[in-house]
Amino acid sequence: MRVLVTGGAGYIGSHTVLQLLAAGHQAVIADDFSNAKPSVIDRLESLAGQSIPVYRVDLTDRAATTEMFAVERLDAVIHFAGFKAVGESVAKPLSYYQNNLDSTLSVLAAMDAHNVRTFVFSSSATVYGDNPVRERTEDMPTTATSPYGWTKVMSEQVLADLANADDRWRIAVLRYFNPVGAHPSGLIGEDPSGFPNNLMPFVAQVAVGRREKLSVFGDDYDTVDGTGVRDYIHVEDLAAGHIAALDRMRAVDDGWSAWNLGSGDGVSVLALVDSFARASAREIPYEIVPRRPGDAPAYWADASKANAELGWRTRKTLDEMCADSWRWQSQNPGGYPD
Ligand code: WQD
Repeated sequence: MRVLVTGGAGYIGSHTVLQLLAAGHQAVIADDFSNAKPSVIDRLESLAGQSIPVYRVDLTDRAATTEMFAVERLDAVIHFAGFKAVGESVAKPLSYYQNNLDSTLSVLAAMDAHNVRTFVFSSSATVYGDNPVRERTEDMPTTATSPYGWTKVMSEQVLADLANADDRWRIAVLRYFNPVGAHPSGLIGEDPSGFPNNLMPFVAQVAVGRREKLSVFGDDYDTVDGTGVRDYIHVEDLAAGHIAALDRMRAVDDGWSAWNLGSGDGVSVLALVDSFARASAREIPYEIVPRRPGDAPAYWADASKANAELGWRTRKTLDEMCADSWRWQSQNPGGYPD
């Protein structure tokens, strides 16, 4: 299939582009490069051994988005593009609603106008909110605790209504747990701009000497060691889940369906820090500080639906996630070159 990958220069998008090509699909990247550097494309092309069409485009620009569909004969879209910093979304709600919702609506309108109706949506476990049931299943109610989370909940609703109105649409909503790690080559990886909000990139920057120490947000939770527990998933496994979803949609008409992409295992902050210290052979100094507002104590995926229906499961271990993350970070201490 010829697949448009919006946000394809980003962390998860770039890893998915490589796996699309390796699986025999064609990939076209659309990215506004607001949270990615052009040097990612050079890395991708050298890893893929082929050139990759790239459109530098603001997807909220409907004319520019439609133009892409007029030029490219596309069979499907994987939609990663969007702002994704939870804290920033609280400070800038209008920017998040406008960008994330408008870009999704713009892409869907262009698809409909060009008879392309196979759509994979990059969603998040954040849509489960602070459900007291720690093992998340797809039938749980969706809600949000931040404008970022609401853009995911709202987009999922738009997609459900669209599939309900027009049964030609095949829509896969993929709810990611905590993506970490990097391509084993160490050439592509997670490169947050500015202060890393997420745990793994922060730990990696401590290990490589860019940050002095990790702040552990609370050790008084009702968990194995008091620190927060999450379901970390290797970005390579996550990318493979997108290929599996495309294969499913080609074979089965589910209309709209959601799948959890996670390992099913909960891992604490300190367990991840320990694994990373072993993988990098570096000390990871940390300090226990007060809880971060809004953090849930613990959650992980029930991934049995994806296992059964997508024929997909995670394969990489926590140690492999840390080893691959370290290889990327140690080979690229400052992230991607400008
Ligand atoms: C993981 C654990 C923290 C940083 C977020 C978004 C979610 C999704 C994934 C987009 C928690 C602890 C973290 C630090 C710490 N993003 N932590 N010190 O919060 O589970 O999920 O990223 O879809 O929407 O909410 O990920 O990596 O920020 O935190 O102690 O410096 O690490 O308290 O227990 P989170 P995270």
